[in-house]
Amino acid sequence: MRSDQSFDATHGAPSATRRGPGVRAGAALAAVSLVLAACSTAAPGADAAADYPDRTINMVVPFAAGGPTDTVTRLIAEPMGQTLGQQIVIQNVAGAGGTLAAGQVADAEPDGYTVLMHHIGMSTAPTLYADLPYDPLEDFKMIGLVTEVPMTIIGAPDFEPDTMEELVAYVEENGDSVNYANAGIGAASQLCGLLFMSATDTTVTEVSYDGTGPAITDLLGGHVDFLCDQTTNTTEQIRAGAVKAYAITTPERNDALPDVPTTTEAGLPDLSVTVWHGLYVPGDTPDAIVQELSAALQAALTEQNVIDSFADLGTAPVAEDQATPEAHRTKLESEIALWRPIIEAAGVSAD
Ligand code: MLT
Repeated sequence: MRSDQSFDATHGAPSATRRGPGVRAGAALAAVSLVLAACSTAAPGADAAADYPDRTINMVVPFAAGGPTDTVTRLIAEPMGQTLGQQIVIQNVAGAGGTLAAGQVADAEPDGYTVLMHHIGMSTAPTLYADLPYDPLEDFKMIGLVTEVPMTIIGAPDFEPDTMEELVAYVEENGDSVNYANAGIGAASQLCGLLFMSATDTTVTEVSYDGTGPAITDLLGGHVDFLCDQTTNTTEQIRAGAVKAYAITTPERNDALPDVPTTTEAGLPDLSVTVWHGLYVPGDTPDAIVQELSAALQAALTEQNVIDSFADLGTAPVAEDQATPEAHRTKLESEIALWRPIIEAAGVSAD
């Protein structure tokens, strides 16, 4: 509507000046024309963002409630909502390793009221899913990165191995009778399982859930043997001694879990992975709204209680210059390129 007005005005002004009675009227019209022309060259979507947000924002989590993606989302949704002056409601849309929710958000109204939290799976899905109904780089705008979380390899309380070395020996001996829980093809837990099998040259039986929240519930009940999941979901269980903690998948130990050895200490340096998260909106969302969401994200990530909550779960917010659309796009592009040959070499696909 507003852009139509600008279009008419800039085209109408010269003829109005020609018909005008005098220099003053001509100058006034030229001034109006300049103002309207300036409006027409303002950032795209500036008008759409003027009242944004004026109602509740939905933040979509592509996995079940109670898992690490859900946890990270809940930690930032409230402070972001405070900055934006609107409530952020979390919706769990689980399925197909996170691709179900991503497809729904790609097709959502590009008005800033549907935001997706997704993780490393955004970069692996294009290789894993031949018929992916969206292009992560084309069908979304990036808001910014959020955090990068270490993973831990943990076992059921009654699972026989007590250490990482014993786990590897046990899997070598028992092969695919060992059950490994994950959150579906392309989930971080699945990628970590692939790295485990590759690093140990073993094969386990994968059991998929809608998220690692329900997977851990089954692990606690002894229905599956082990899994690899982010510290944001495992730290409390490890501290409580409710699960067996075998290793953390970073070269250095983690302050939140100082007693958990690293995969490198266990002789498996290639079993190294962290899980990055970012926020997305549909691809046609106005840039002004993207910037507003990005600013709210940056504000949330510098709040001391958010920093403390992340630290307590073994992670930290990204640096402020990473919580930007530009840094996020660069990360996504490089991660798609990183994972493609690894997944292709592993011969894994969702189809
Ligand atoms: C994953 O394995 O990708 C995550 O743990 C999924 C989740 O957030 O539940």
